[in-house]
Amino acid sequence: MSKARVVVLISGRGSNLSAILNAAAAPDYPATVVAVIANKADAPGLQVAASAGVVTEVVPSQGVTDRAAYDQSLLAVIDRYAPDLVVLAGFMRILTPDFVNHYADRMINIHPSLLPAFTGLHTHQRALDAGVHLHGCTVHFVTAELDHGPMIAQAAIPVLPNDTATTLALRVLDEEHRVYPAAVRWFAEGRLKIVGQRVFLDSAPANYVGLIAPHVG
Ligand code: GRF
Repeated sequence: MSKARVVVLISGRGSNLSAILNAAAAPDYPATVVAVIANKADAPGLQVAASAGVVTEVVPSQGVTDRAAYDQSLLAVIDRYAPDLVVLAGFMRILTPDFVNHYADRMINIHPSLLPAFTGLHTHQRALDAGVHLHGCTVHFVTAELDHGPMIAQAAIPVLPNDTATTLALRVLDEEHRVYPAAVRWFAEGRLKIVGQRVFLDSAPANYVGLIAPHVG
């Protein structure tokens, strides 16, 4: 069977990209990263991609004020790679509705909180300030409303008494690196179904029971 074509968008260090590339190196992984696109030429993740032999592109956003025009040029570059799935992995831009609609049901994002709590930035500090006992990350389909799309998977960790935003971020990141490659796999296998705001997976993978809670169809 042919593998799903994935384009990954990044702005920074690319540790989630790296986790997906590592997973994709396994012969039985159902997706292949066909291009990595950054909005910053100095995004360290570009090196991660290059080291893995993946094509990279930069569509610079610095100084660009016309969001619609930027998104159209980004879209043109992405679509040259004919992706089945667009993966946002630390891509730090607000996307226009036209862009989001173009990739409806085939663009996903990872967010460092248990959505719908703590949309936006500084999630780890906000989780500490709010006194939550559980924190984590969420992989979701991207819709026009920021950090609000149908959720594919979540991973939770306990907040420990001595946690700082830095220690929390590190433990959440470990979970991100487990959850994101799994979510990409499920999408590539055609096992995800969106019903309203909910995402169903045909069956819950045993190794994630108790950690990730997908809806079982
Ligand atoms: C991650 O924390 C992710 O949840 C958020 O941006 C960060 C990206 O990190 N969307 P990296 O570039 O994948 O290391």
